Amino acid sequence: MSGSDGADLEVTIRRAHASDATLMSSWRGMAEVRRFQPMVPLAPAMLRRRLGREGGASLDTDSGYRITWIVEADGNAAGWVALFNINWVHRNATLGFTIAPWAQRQGVGRRGVTQVLDRAFGPGRIRRVEADCDVDNEASQRLLERLGFQREGTLRALVAMPQGRRDFYLYSLLSEEWPPAASGS
Ligand SMILES: CC(C)(COP(=O)(O)OP(=O)(O)OC[C@H]1O[C@@H](n2cnc3c(N)ncnc32)[C@H](O)[C@@H]1OP(=O)(O)O)[C@@H](O)C(=O)NCCC(=O)NCCS
Repeated sequence: MSGSDGADLEVTIRRAHASDATLMSSWRGMAEVRRFQPMVPLAPAMLRRRLGREGGASLDTDSGYRITWIVEADGNAAGWVALFNINWVHRNATLGFTIAPWAQRQGVGRRGVTQVLDRAFGPGRIRRVEADCDVDNEASQRLLERLGFQREGTLRALVAMPQGRRDFYLYSLLSEEWPPAASGS
């Protein structure tokens, strides 16, 4: 069960728009969000341009390099899930996710990522999704493992963080492994 399980919260996803830039920028600046992520602060204007460029990306038309969804809890923007490094030749992509501190530990991240994977692994779409996370990021590891991701190994000294270079675990999930037997979503 995820934290207080938050089963009473309705969790939905929608595509991120340029108008989400200010909120996303504020999340990116939060210490709790940055603790385990090598995340540079991005000014709203820069994020707005980036989200604007995503407009033409689509899982329906095999187009784009990055797609970001906003996760909403009871209709309130509560975080984001993104597929990036999308490679349409090999049909693989990298998964990233962040949930705002107020919405954490209520199953919002798990349910938001589940909905993105439901779309990503639709017929003829993405075959492999990978994700990496700091070896001390227990929340991220539990979320990924609950959804069936397999740990493939350790990426040593992958990123430079204020506390020093950090090892990350690499995870992957294949389309034929989705959905997991008991995702609880
Ligand atoms: C990682 C993150 C997205 C998880 O989102 P969430 O909505 O809080 O997660 P959920 O409530 O869906 O819980 C998922 C699992 O993680 C566990 N979990 C959540 N927060 C946890 C914490 N702080 N410590 C340990 N386990 C935690 C839950 O118990 C659940 O495990 P279970 O299914 O075995 O019970 C969120 O903590 C976050 O945004 N962190 C900061 C950004 C970040 O690290 N992003 C990931 C980068 S790789």
